Amino acid sequence: MTQPLLSVKNLTIDYIGEEKDFRAVDNVSFDVAPGEVFGLAGESGCGKSTIAFAISRLHKPPALIRKGSQILLAGRDVLDLDPKALAAFRWREVAMVFQSAMNSLNPVLRIEDQFYDVLRTHKGMTKAHARERTTEMLRLVDISPDRMRNYPHQFSGGMRQRIVIAICMALDPKLVVMDEPTTALDVVVQREILQRINELRKQFGFSVLFITHDLGLMVQFCDRIGIMLAGKLVEQNDAEAIYKTPQHEYTRKLWASFPSLHGGVLL
Ligand SMILES: Nc1ncnc2c1ncn2[C@@H]1O[C@H](COP(=O)(O)OP(=O)(O)O)[C@@H](O)[C@H]1O
Ligand SMILES: [Mg+2]
Repeated sequence: MTQPLLSVKNLTIDYIGEEKDFRAVDNVSFDVAPGEVFGLAGESGCGKSTIAFAISRLHKPPALIRKGSQILLAGRDVLDLDPKALAAFRWREVAMVFQSAMNSLNPVLRIEDQFYDVLRTHKGMTKAHARERTTEMLRLVDISPDRMRNYPHQFSGGMRQRIVIAICMALDPKLVVMDEPTTALDVVVQREILQRINELRKQFGFSVLFITHDLGLMVQFCDRIGIMLAGKLVEQNDAEAIYKTPQHEYTRKLWASFPSLHGGVLL
């Protein structure tokens, strides 16, 4: 691989309990190349979101990242950032899109003002410049810029999710972390959004860490996939190899539970 954009090394995260600690992520290591889409798959509770939050530096107690863990983004250890560096890091370097991101829009602010907030805070943009950028970004996600003066409730769930993605992209992040970004949406809207993200990725060159429980979507969308089981990354490989020639028994089981993939419906 060329120099990775993201390099996760020996990441170990415990949830600290009153009686005993729970190891949610156990010595996980993987790299994501510039422009690559890396997927994390595995059953609910295996530690995917815990990893996503740690990479975005959004983890909170009782989550504790153990010594020896490293999360290098463009060579810099994300775990060493002080509060000031962290403020700049969020959004500008890494943007995170959650399942419920569409509900993170402020209901009493017009879309235009939500873009302006982010662009002023992180890039010091004037209102006029921010409006230009908002126009450009809304077009990228197929929303008419005429609607920037509308409020969130005037849009459908899929549109709101696309608006959040547009706000994330407005700062040109190097890495976009997507944790079940389309799970709350219907299948057609899901695919439209992922296609759009893929086009944007080709245009801007950011990398994506993609988490979904939908293996069909994962195989279609990712370049490489890591399979997690109870906090451990048990296998990682090119998406096609993970699907066609799985090495780990658990990976085989995971595919077997998705007959539509093997039936050739999705691939
Ligand atoms: N705040 C928390 N306190 C204690 N345990 C937690 C907390 N958040 C998650 N966990 C546990 O950590 C494990 C991994 O959770 P998570 O990363 O959310 O899994 P996934 O995203 O793969 O479904 C689960 O067993 C979950 O119960
Ligand atoms: Mg999760």
